[in-house]
Amino acid sequence: MSKIEKALNKAKSQRQEVVSTGHTVENEESSNRIDSIQYEQTKVIKVSEATLQENRLTAFFDNTSIADQYKILKTRIFQQTMEEGLNTLLVTSAVDNEGKSITATNLAISLAKELQQTVLLIDADLRRPSLHNLFALSPSAGLSDYLSGKKPLNDLFISPGINKLTMLPSCKKVGNSAELMGSFRMKNFVEEVKSRYKDRYIIFDSSPLLGFADALILSEYVDGIILVVEYGKTQRHELEKALRLIKGRNLIGTVLNKSPFSKKQEYYYQRCNK
Ligand SMILES: Nc1ncnc2c1ncn2[C@@H]1O[C@H](COP(=O)(O)OP(=O)(O)OP(=O)(O)O)[C@@H](O)[C@H]1O
Ligand SMILES: [Mg+2]
Repeated sequence: MSKIEKALNKAKSQRQEVVSTGHTVENEESSNRIDSIQYEQTKVIKVSEATLQENRLTAFFDNTSIADQYKILKTRIFQQTMEEGLNTLLVTSAVDNEGKSITATNLAISLAKELQQTVLLIDADLRRPSLHNLFALSPSAGLSDYLSGKKPLNDLFISPGINKLTMLPSCKKVGNSAELMGSFRMKNFVEEVKSRYKDRYIIFDSSPLLGFADALILSEYVDGIILVVEYGKTQRHELEKALRLIKGRNLIGTVLNKSPFSKKQEYYYQRCNK
């Protein structure tokens, strides 16, 4: 058994507790409250199928092995979230470059293909935003502009032309990302998007857990965490450290990315016992 498999088994056996994501917001300044979101104002910028293919957003295409893997992931997520009304999910990893953004985006596309689901995909990686690149978009403003009070939210949403999928990009790197992530505005924003529509999943792409506080802060606001592990790259000690950091939060599962187990199976989902 490989080191990663052992660490994954350890993660599986580790009991994860669901913690309350409720926030006390009574004392907030009114300026921190978010405006009512008008999704009907969302800009539509149709992304070509060639772009989706080139950027590995293959969950879009039916009857591909990756799309099938995402169907399995999505089904497991439904099983663990739907009944309890858990709809805000953070995709993160121990270190960088393990496939968080690709996993978050493919998962969002896959969920949006469900008849009853709408999906909001949010680029909450303010250190290294990339979702706009995956869709070959060049937004002039993003989440950090809203969090720093420069833009209203309604100016920021983009539909990439995939039915029922809306995204909120982040287009520039910011230096004070942890501060913005921990702001009342961010907390309120997550509360607002969480409660507005019952049949919507909100997927947050984030920075890695080790080295920066951003993803850890965001993990306090969301209902569940999906941890991406890159086969053969993530070190056992990194994974264990990441798991320690999120101990007590609702780790819904891990995705083993770039797995060579089978050519047909690039993603392998491991449920974590609650
Ligand atoms: N399953 C996969 N098979 C092959 N290549 C992949 C796979 N998943 C991701 N990649 C590639 O790995 C690189 C990193 O992917 P991605 O940007 O999704 O990672 P990330 O964890 O979001 O990185 P960062 O920490 O920089 O935000 C990209 O070049 C992407 O195309
Ligand atoms: Mg990324």
